[in-house]
Amino acid sequence: MGDKIRIGICGTGGIAHSHMNNYVKFSDVEIVGACDIVPGKARAFLDRYDLTNVPAFESVYDMIKNVEMDGASVCTYNTTHAECTIALLEAGAHVLCEKPMSFTLQEAVEMVRASRRTGKFLTIGFQPRFDFMRQRVDSIIQSGALGKVYYVQSGGGRRRGIPGGTFIDSSKAGFGCLGDIGCYSIDECLHAIGYPKPLTVSAVATDYFGKNPKYWPEPDKFDVDDFSVAFVRLEGDVTFVFKQSWAMHADSLGDTLWLGTEGAIKIINGFDELRRPSRVMYFTDINGQHLDSYIEANVPFNAYTTVRPRDMWEGKMRSFVDAIKTNGPAPVPAEEILYNQAIIDGIYRSAKLKKEVEIEIPEI
Ligand SMILES: NC(=O)c1ccc[n+]([C@@H]2O[C@H](COP(=O)([O-])OP(=O)(O)OC[C@H]3O[C@@H](n4cnc5c(N)ncnc54)[C@H](O)[C@@H]3O)[C@@H](O)[C@H]2O)c1
Repeated sequence: MGDKIRIGICGTGGIAHSHMNNYVKFSDVEIVGACDIVPGKARAFLDRYDLTNVPAFESVYDMIKNVEMDGASVCTYNTTHAECTIALLEAGAHVLCEKPMSFTLQEAVEMVRASRRTGKFLTIGFQPRFDFMRQRVDSIIQSGALGKVYYVQSGGGRRRGIPGGTFIDSSKAGFGCLGDIGCYSIDECLHAIGYPKPLTVSAVATDYFGKNPKYWPEPDKFDVDDFSVAFVRLEGDVTFVFKQSWAMHADSLGDTLWLGTEGAIKIINGFDELRRPSRVMYFTDINGQHLDSYIEANVPFNAYTTVRPRDMWEGKMRSFVDAIKTNGPAPVPAEEILYNQAIIDGIYRSAKLKKEVEIEIPEI
């Protein structure tokens, strides 16, 4: 490895710009190539950053053949994450793959196997892991303050937020809202409690908004879910209730909640009467006295807050580059996100079959 970390970009659509806007700020990164299957797209992308001498390709295989990379960003749509990630790992690059990890669980398994086989790490692009408030919530739950957490519920959701583009085409995105923003909810709820292994899922998914011309201009092109709900059993007698929407007639699907034997944390999703955004509450009981408190979002850095507030996208991209320098570990390990993908896979299957399904995760 030279002075600079050599990075390639695979897929140069919308989100590749968020990667690039950070890479170009890092003095220890050199962009060595980009590829996109749409002819001319990778060239135009690089030119936009004045990288006119950096080669552009129309396939990941051509990029691999022609440039040496220490790391690569996979920013393609979901159904090509696995193919591109595996090719790049095999070529000797550490990989930051965008969320959701893949379309199918089997693809995710193959991605982890490729990472193990090649000794190159695979990290998944969940930037909320680097959000200051999220890290506060994680640290409180991980401290054991809630006792045994036995119930977790996701909340939030969008009232009107169907993204369009490749996100509503199942051949490119695989699934809709479930994979697009549902994967964040699963990660938020389960990373904090150590990602217990999922066992069974009973789910429903619908498309009432995407298929209605009153709410979406091209219902004929819409062939994914825009709402899903699931009851998930996790190892260790933990229940997880999942809800997610791209569109609905409500401001929120409710609070995000962790219930433990000694306390609870609730994220109140939405705005209060003063238009303040999501607030986080901690509940406990000391000697029979109920104690309810708000967790301050803007606590200045001090000896007890182990993390400083910083932009979560910068955190995501910086942690990837830093991990390349030390040959790992992955900031958001693919091995952990395998359980996220297994739940998505279970929800997808259960909703299609209209019955509860078992989750079986192949040996890595
Ligand atoms: N982390 C975030 O906040 C965030 C936000 C939006 C999207 N995403 C994720 O990023 C990914 C891409 O989303 P987007 O909005 O940029 O989509 P997009 O459709 O704008 O871009 C995807 C690009 O990948 C290219 N591509 C597809 N298959 C390829 C292949 N085999 N080789 C090379 N290029 C290929 C497409 O031609 C397209 O240009 C999705 O997985 C999405 O879920 C993450």
